[in-house]
Amino acid sequence: MQIEHSVALITGGSSGIGEATAKHLSALGARVAIVDLDPPQIDRVVSEIQAAGGQCVGICADVTSELDTERFVQATVDAFGQLNIAVTCAGVIRDGTLLNIDKNTGHVSRKLGFDKWKTVIDVNLTGTFLTLRDAAQAMVNGGWEGLLVPISSVNKIGQVGQLNYSATKAAVERFPKIIIGEFLLRKISHIRCVGIAPGYTETRILREMNQDALAEILKDVHLGRLVKPQEIADLIAYCAQNEAINATTLEITGGLCFPGNIAK
Ligand SMILES: NC(=O)c1ccc[n+]([C@@H]2O[C@H](COP(=O)([O-])OP(=O)(O)OC[C@H]3O[C@@H](n4cnc5c(N)ncnc54)[C@H](O)[C@@H]3O)[C@@H](O)[C@H]2O)c1
Repeated sequence: MQIEHSVALITGGSSGIGEATAKHLSALGARVAIVDLDPPQIDRVVSEIQAAGGQCVGICADVTSELDTERFVQATVDAFGQLNIAVTCAGVIRDGTLLNIDKNTGHVSRKLGFDKWKTVIDVNLTGTFLTLRDAAQAMVNGGWEGLLVPISSVNKIGQVGQLNYSATKAAVERFPKIIIGEFLLRKISHIRCVGIAPGYTETRILREMNQDALAEILKDVHLGRLVKPQEIADLIAYCAQNEAINATTLEITGGLCFPGNIAK
């Protein structure tokens, strides 16, 4: 796929990985639609992209709403006449253990809240499904070359304290295989799906994590630092341009390993 003159839609596009991806694709010549929740942040990114010479629209929308996903996909097509790349960066964490145990009584003092469970499922899983479904519908009906990019996470492996988050990221990691299998059956050959599973990346979402736990995790990263959002954006652009990458989810973690788990 040629990124120049393509149209990209990025949810969660006014912060972190989404913002870096929107700016990078724009710098490579794509026209971009930024979807997010906070109008001032959306306006900031749109202005910065336009100031750099890019074409960009901002759309305030909630990915958990079916009405909104239909609206922002249509708004993107209305603005730029087509849709080629959809990246689902909208995501949240609401960490907590399944149960908290009172040290004195040994009894359960607190359970993982249903609100924490539901918020993460709604944004990370349902939001990704709705966005990719409606983007794919537009690409099929328009006959445009397309790339769907669900954002998973290295924590798809199952992180303690992230039952909700890891469950969504494990599910999303499977989307490319399932969607492209379906497209193969239906002879839809012009749309690819490549998931990206970032490791710990320098964005505001990490500020909500336990910072002591994060410092411990970084000791297991071969690169010795957090991944930069720009490095994720680079990989997404590369995936757009290399049509052999398809029906898979790629990790980009800086070499997150768990050497403490050595078998002796
Ligand atoms: N930063 C990391 O270490 C890391 C690692 C692995 C995966 N990820 C994933 O990358 C994606 C981007 O995260 P980030 O690190 O850039 O975080 P971020 O908080 O900077 O960006 C997430 C964006 O999603 C938006 N958002 C949240 N709920 C939304 C909703 N209902 N509708 C529309 N927009 C919504 C937020 O407003 C925010 O702008 C997420 O899916 C996250 O799970 C991040």
